[in-house]
Amino acid sequence: MRILAIETSCDETGVAIVEDGRRIRANVIGTQAMHQQTGGIIPEIAAREHLRAIDPLTAQALRDAGMDLSDIDAIAATVGPGLIGALLVGANYARGLALASGLPFVGVNHLEGHVYANWLAETEDVPAEPDLPAVVLVVSGAHSDLVLMEGHRRFRLLGRTIDDAAGEAFDKVARLLGLGFPGGPFIERAARDGDPDAYPLPKAWLADRYDFSFSGLKTAVLRLVRSLEAAGPLPVNDVAASFQKAIVEALAAKTARAAAEHGVRSVLLGGGVAANGPLRAEIQRRIGVPLRVPAPRLCTDNGAMVGAAAFYSLRHRGAEMPAGVSSSLPLA
Ligand code: KG4
Ligand code: ZN
Repeated sequence: MRILAIETSCDETGVAIVEDGRRIRANVIGTQAMHQQTGGIIPEIAAREHLRAIDPLTAQALRDAGMDLSDIDAIAATVGPGLIGALLVGANYARGLALASGLPFVGVNHLEGHVYANWLAETEDVPAEPDLPAVVLVVSGAHSDLVLMEGHRRFRLLGRTIDDAAGEAFDKVARLLGLGFPGGPFIERAARDGDPDAYPLPKAWLADRYDFSFSGLKTAVLRLVRSLEAAGPLPVNDVAASFQKAIVEALAAKTARAAAEHGVRSVLLGGGVAANGPLRAEIQRRIGVPLRVPAPRLCTDNGAMVGAAAFYSLRHRGAEMPAGVSSSLPLA
């Protein structure tokens, strides 16, 4: 089964063709570079850019796969969570395409997409599926959810952030340090030349719970930066490394504890922050089961993950998707 899948929940326009939920036949991504100047996303501009990009990117995906619409079995799009205007562009375009070509439309939860990115393969021989049950950490610019995946599309929430998302914390600290947007990759790069033990920072520990809190850490970094700036040139690399260590430890410790407590067979990561190398390494170090992480370009928003989730949503019933779009659609 070949699914043409569209992702427009935030600032990435993604169009992909995925076969049987696992094999990527095409995966094109248009990144909206203008948000780098504003250091954040302006929703109206994001929606307008999706509108401009979606038709040419869809044509390109079909070309890349050497297919036309008659080779496609279903059309999928993200219906939430995300920016309403941005979601509407992709979902309406996909519904129109489905209607015009007589194909079924599948609405996809963006967070399920991040989870099912772990089922994707960029190579011809597809590896074995991740073993379930699994503990899944979905960490993106808008979400930090720790969930138990009991089976396909059966998610139980263990914990989530009570304030900022992990990616948001990376983005805000990057801005404080005068680094680029989105902040995660810049922090990771700066931290490579820094001392993670230079400055002790609070680990945002909510004892005995699986919830996260990152606003205290963010405030602590703000105070640290202000006092360091007063003393001389800002040691950007050391601050980046110390911040990254604190956030990685909080995420890794709770993920590992959840995996042990629930006796799962694997741990899966998803979302833009899962592209972070030290986070992967620290989780791997702490767990006794296999860790699956999508390739970095499949961790950040893309169409292929929507195609994977759409396939399993046709195969396995679970949470029903809204008829329209929804800015706040939980994973569990
Ligand atoms: O999943 P995603 O592409 O979009 C959302 O659904 O939010 O995630 C984007 C987030 C941004 O906050 C970005 O700073 C973060 O993922 N990110 C990273 C890395 N790459 C992207 N955070 C830490 N380390 C990275 N290497
Ligand atoms: Zn995302």
